[in-house]
Amino acid sequence: MNKRALVTGSSSGIGKHLSEELAKKGYALILVARREENLKELAEKIRHEFHTACEYYVCDLSHEAEVESLIKTYPDVDVLINNAGFGMYGFFHEMPWSRTRELIGVNVLSPVRLAHHYLPGMIKRGGGKILNVASVAGMRATPYFSSYCGAKAFMIQFSKSLALEVNDENVHVCCLLPGTTATEFWQISGMQEKVSQRIGGFDDPRETAVFGINQMEKGMISGVPGLKNKVKELMKNILPEQMWFYLIKRHMTHPSLFAKRK
Ligand SMILES: NC(=O)c1ccc[n+]([C@@H]2O[C@H](COP(=O)([O-])OP(=O)(O)OC[C@H]3O[C@@H](n4cnc5c(N)ncnc54)[C@H](OP(=O)(O)O)[C@@H]3O)[C@@H](O)[C@H]2O)c1
Repeated sequence: MNKRALVTGSSSGIGKHLSEELAKKGYALILVARREENLKELAEKIRHEFHTACEYYVCDLSHEAEVESLIKTYPDVDVLINNAGFGMYGFFHEMPWSRTRELIGVNVLSPVRLAHHYLPGMIKRGGGKILNVASVAGMRATPYFSSYCGAKAFMIQFSKSLALEVNDENVHVCCLLPGTTATEFWQISGMQEKVSQRIGGFDDPRETAVFGINQMEKGMISGVPGLKNKVKELMKNILPEQMWFYLIKRHMTHPSLFAKRK
């Protein structure tokens, strides 16, 4: 029987491509997100083009009860891809609490819960893989993106620590840190006006996904896709923190932030 992979946030962007890449490798898939039409369409495409089993499960990952139902429906998987996530651009204290809670639910609580559930089975069977999609935004402070930045920082350290805990059990945990990638993420985060000033410079979500799957399959603990992002991260690491604070505040401040206040 084919190994089973569960991919959260597979209805668009990086998750859609991660699902297709896993299907090409012969995994049977479980696609998870809220938009049923998108999931249905992708499941049909995967079954037709890649001749592998593909089911989908509609789930709002910000609701704990729905995450528990997902686990009950699919008690075991060989590969878990924690990809679902979204950002919020603006002043932290002005964001509705319900939306902040939702962000932490989708970006932190649900991936941690899914890893907590699926890991024991993987260890018992003597093999398994988890890919956590974090972000380069989790590496250093980013104003007006505080909850997202904090959530991704948590996921980076959680993921790397967990990887070191379980790597003797033939279970690999890998953390993918994408840079600015061309997906719906920017629109949903409320950063469209800001990023529309950029000329080019967006990564291709398929290339990001291919890199992520390769890193996971190689047993790497973390990876930043693309030379441009790797160089940027290197520069961020050598820059004194005070200098970073100055530059990132300038970079992230945009008139659309203040327009939202009126
Ligand atoms: N794009 C970038 O520049 C970038 C950079 C670094 C990291 N990332 C990370 O990459 C991951 C994928 O994002 P993307 O860029 O591919 O953006 P995207 O196209 O907006 O995809 C986000 C996915 O998450 C799912 N999702 C959001 N809220 C959900 C909820 N409450 N319940 C279930 N699923 C939910 C969405 O599905 P539904 O709406 O159908 O539920 C969608 O499939 C995220 O973790 C993001 O933080 C992105």
